[in-house]
Amino acid sequence: MSAIQKAVIPAAGLGTRFLPATKATPKEMLPVVDKPAIQYVVEEAVAAGLSDVLMVTGRNKRPLEDHFDRNYELEEALARKGDADRLAKVQESSDLATMHYVRQGDPRGLGHAVLCAAPHVGDQPFAVLLGDDLIDPRDPLLKRMAEIQAQEGGSVIALMEVDPAQIHMYGCAAVAPTGDSDVVRVTGLVEKPDPSEAPSNLAIIGRYVLDPAVFEVLRKTEPGRGNEIQLTDALQKLAEDESLGGPVHGVVFKGRRYDTGDRGDYLRAIVRLAAEREDLGPDFKKWLRDYVEEECP
Ligand code: G1P
Repeated sequence: MSAIQKAVIPAAGLGTRFLPATKATPKEMLPVVDKPAIQYVVEEAVAAGLSDVLMVTGRNKRPLEDHFDRNYELEEALARKGDADRLAKVQESSDLATMHYVRQGDPRGLGHAVLCAAPHVGDQPFAVLLGDDLIDPRDPLLKRMAEIQAQEGGSVIALMEVDPAQIHMYGCAAVAPTGDSDVVRVTGLVEKPDPSEAPSNLAIIGRYVLDPAVFEVLRKTEPGRGNEIQLTDALQKLAEDESLGGPVHGVVFKGRRYDTGDRGDYLRAIVRLAAEREDLGPDFKKWLRDYVEEECP
């Protein structure tokens, strides 16, 4: 298995798409059913064997630190009541991983957020998980990416086929086939291209296993799209010139992915995940069926 131990989770974004909910609450704390979105992401990292998690935060992100810390007052109150189930739920997030935090003082883009992780990461390959993408735990992706990284060296990104009309919302990869049907060689990358100029319909989804050489490239990467330092631009340089830090491969994901960065997709994610839950699902689906019959003929 992989030697990758560290996960980096950028979480400094302002979450403006969810205002006013995100005026005083980080968007990462918005619940997906009954768990904050960010907890799913940390759970995914831990399930792939990454128990050292660095979150790149910013101002107004204190609730993230509190969520992954102990809450003695609440724990004592629940213990006194003998409410073991809820006590376990409270303790789950603080027992999950070894959490570290670094602040991104200026919001200068995803590439800059990843660069803030350099002192913590050191010189080992590491994973980056973006909080807006939730990957269904039944369809493990990171483990496969770590496997390819161990085999091929360099960096590995997660790709997914999207409707060509949607490609302008993502980083997009030009690729060449390999001997593995789910793995491609990345020959070029472009951040949020116009559909008419996109080299493929393969979108970068928010999972990366990166060679630490990316830090040196990021230090030299000029602001790109949106005047932000783009991780995609740094990876493009790595893909173009292997001598900088090995090749870039892509794992083409065909599993279930939920986008919680957009309000419509966020609602769809909640409905799906609630419907599949053993405790809530049966009643919720029954209500949903009736609701659809009555309200959405
Ligand atoms: C970021 C990346 C983009 C990637 C996307 C995946 O964009 O810059 O390349 O496709 O995440 O969610 P953002 O959605 O943060 O604008």
